[in-house]
Amino acid sequence: MMNDEISIDPWGSSQSTDYSRIIEKFGLSSMDNVSIESPSRLHRRGVVFAHRDLDLVLEAKRKGNSFGVLTGLMPSGKMHLGHSMVIDQVKWFQEQGGDVTIAVADLESTATRGISLSEGKKIAREEYVANYAALGLDPEKTTVYFQSERSIVQKLGFQLGKRTNLSELEAIYGFDGSTNLAHVQAPLVQAGDILHPQLDEYGGLRPIVVPVGIDQDPHLRLTRGLAAKTNWFNVNDAKMGLQVGVSIQEDNAAIMGVEANGRVNKDVQKQVFSRIVDAISALGYSDIMSNPKHGTVNIPSATSKDKGAIRMALLSLERNMGGMGLLAPSSTYHRFAVGMTGDKMSSSKPKTTLFLGDEISAVEKKIKKSFSGGQATIEEHRRLGGDPDKDVAYQYMMYFFEEDDKFLEEVNQGYRSGKILAGEMKQMCIERATQWLSDLSEKRDESAHLVDRFFE
Ligand code: TRP
Repeated sequence: MMNDEISIDPWGSSQSTDYSRIIEKFGLSSMDNVSIESPSRLHRRGVVFAHRDLDLVLEAKRKGNSFGVLTGLMPSGKMHLGHSMVIDQVKWFQEQGGDVTIAVADLESTATRGISLSEGKKIAREEYVANYAALGLDPEKTTVYFQSERSIVQKLGFQLGKRTNLSELEAIYGFDGSTNLAHVQAPLVQAGDILHPQLDEYGGLRPIVVPVGIDQDPHLRLTRGLAAKTNWFNVNDAKMGLQVGVSIQEDNAAIMGVEANGRVNKDVQKQVFSRIVDAISALGYSDIMSNPKHGTVNIPSATSKDKGAIRMALLSLERNMGGMGLLAPSSTYHRFAVGMTGDKMSSSKPKTTLFLGDEISAVEKKIKKSFSGGQATIEEHRRLGGDPDKDVAYQYMMYFFEEDDKFLEEVNQGYRSGKILAGEMKQMCIERATQWLSDLSEKRDESAHLVDRFFE
């Protein structure tokens, strides 16, 4: 199968860019079919190209219900433009009313990048959060924390570890016998990051969306699976309507009426099923068919659209009964901007990217040297036209520096037709990049006093 060549490695140095095949292989949903009010630049340009269960979040917003946003940063170097895409998305969700939590992955970076915890702390503050403030995240509605300091995150990671095994991690991440255990621990802590905002102490049960680059999807697949495995009640499509299935597990058997000897306590079981029926009828359904013997409850008049609300009601019942009641996280994925040189953008290769703290003279140099989609000679370029899809200067305007869609389209056409030359494209990009970066630097100064508030 062609698909087998496609892989995603969150720690790797290369990245598949065949986005439609990624969607297909990993069962993502395309953003093409999602209609969004007031889309951001990255939405309008297809840079945010896929999601999982984003509808839960959009629905919460529509109904005026709360939802949260969680993402993380790896404090291992300087913040570059690629990192700013996630913050763009976080900011957008914040404007839509989401509360924001950001994990500093100091445990991950100490384990996988050899950065000490104190160094990680400094990098997070001075490189990342200083820029978050400048990029316009609202400190009153954003909480940044350190993995090493939020014990509940580590505890959750441990508890969830029980629901997976090495074979699953091998399948998701391609691990083998020589894999360093830091790479086993980090995803479990990350699952803790992703799930903890819905715990009662951190805002309670509500949809949580995780905006990330596509390289992080393996962690979301793992986390969604872990959450689902803890659930006491599952909601599935049935021949008619929806069916709730009860999952008897080690830690809920007694509560569900299954005694240690395997015998079923009918009274307890009856009570459990009547609580399920109550929870569902509170949503307005009247044709509920309870079948304790089969461990199921059917709701013939419910449709797929009702799944979300029924699931929420049952998660909250699960919590009342003593379970964790974890909702699988939603997520959105952005594409990767190509590196300046045409390779992957990477903090460890400074020539491949623009850092948010770069001097203007360095920026100019990098863009001048950037990979071009133009022809070898002016004469040929006029005749054959350039390729904006390969032209780094154009791509950077599209991803980062040019807000005006109409103007961008004109530039695109102008380049293809040969009217705009590669040098002119670079010049346009330089002007916008230098403006953008000097604005940001000014804002960094203005907002420096806000940095502390992100950690409160
Ligand atoms: N692993 C992420 C990275 O490499 C950082 C991270 C830690 C994260 N926890 C997270 C991202 C939770 C999203 C959600 O950048």
